[in-house]
Amino acid sequence: MHHSCWYDKGGVNGNYSCEECQLEKDLKKATKMIKLSNGYCYDMGCAAGAFGFLNGWWWERPLCWTGILRPQDWTITTKSLTMSPIKGNLKIWWPFNLYRNCVQTFHDGVNSGTVNAVGMTNPSLPVWIRDYYPKVQKLGLNVIVNVIPYTVEEAEFMGMLLDDLKDIKGVELNLSCPSCKKTESDPYDLVKALKSNCKHPLGIKLGYSDDFNDNVIVKDCENYIEFVTLINCVKWEQLYPNTPSPLAPYGLTGGVSGAPIRSLARASLAAYKASGLKVPVVSCGGIESEGEAYSRFVMGANAIQIGVKIKNDPIGAQKMFDSIVSNIRK
Ligand SMILES: Cc1cc2nc3c(=O)[nH]c(=O)nc-3n(C[C@H](O)[C@H](O)[C@H](O)COP(=O)(O)O)c2cc1C
Repeated sequence: MHHSCWYDKGGVNGNYSCEECQLEKDLKKATKMIKLSNGYCYDMGCAAGAFGFLNGWWWERPLCWTGILRPQDWTITTKSLTMSPIKGNLKIWWPFNLYRNCVQTFHDGVNSGTVNAVGMTNPSLPVWIRDYYPKVQKLGLNVIVNVIPYTVEEAEFMGMLLDDLKDIKGVELNLSCPSCKKTESDPYDLVKALKSNCKHPLGIKLGYSDDFNDNVIVKDCENYIEFVTLINCVKWEQLYPNTPSPLAPYGLTGGVSGAPIRSLARASLAAYKASGLKVPVVSCGGIESEGEAYSRFVMGANAIQIGVKIKNDPIGAQKMFDSIVSNIRK
């Protein structure tokens, strides 16, 4: 029994020293980084949405100014961008509405989680390029742009626009947002169309599915993609079919993040690794402690993303980030 290591304690700073711990040994052996074709090394990122469209939502700024939260240290995945602006449900200028209307924390009797029905609020990719991309260059941020094309034509055009952005590290194609309209095209066609116009490393973000059919998408696309991100939020009704969503009073249901989806994120990762597919995998979903992060690497994740932990506990998230990178990059 290992009593003092991070694994037993769920990630306690300074206790990463248990010599007997098999998991600690396994962690040393794990490949804890994805080397993208442009040379960028991707190991620890924020999940799409966690830092808004770039380096933090405006209400997170004081934490960024004081250096408590440092987006510049992370591989930042932007919130999803579409070709045309979408108003969605997020009232960006009034964060209290954000909580009341489309993002809420809840407790299901076992775990605390977050349910959101932001519904794709975004200014569009062209506006992001005009208003946010200059900051990527000015601040030297490491950014992966997350996009949702709805048609093959949109995917081609987005590929062209993204190709010109020489200072981004990659593109993540969101094939799995639980609260947006389904793309009208085959995922393979979207991936191929985007990649045919864009030299940047491309990844796809998938959701949880009971039968892991999504691995078929990875197989189809493996010649075009450099990473697969597992998993997005899980639909409320998939997790709690008999309980109304906390967002029901606003006519919304939403997708769940955080601890309630941890076991599903682990199951997806295990199924993916068991499938024998070789595309590097970024594990996401319910990573809220160092121990959980290390466990994902030991399970075969090559990189990880942290989502709502940044929103709910920004100070803890940055501390966790610092400690994890000091362990995995040594
Ligand atoms: C408020 C909010 C907004 C999100 N927006 C996006 C998004 O725009 N695109 C996307 O792919 N995922 C989005 N996500 C999902 C996260 O990127 C992540 O996949 C999910 O929250 C699971 O990780 P976590 O449990 O660490 O939060 C969002 C999540 C939240 C809570």
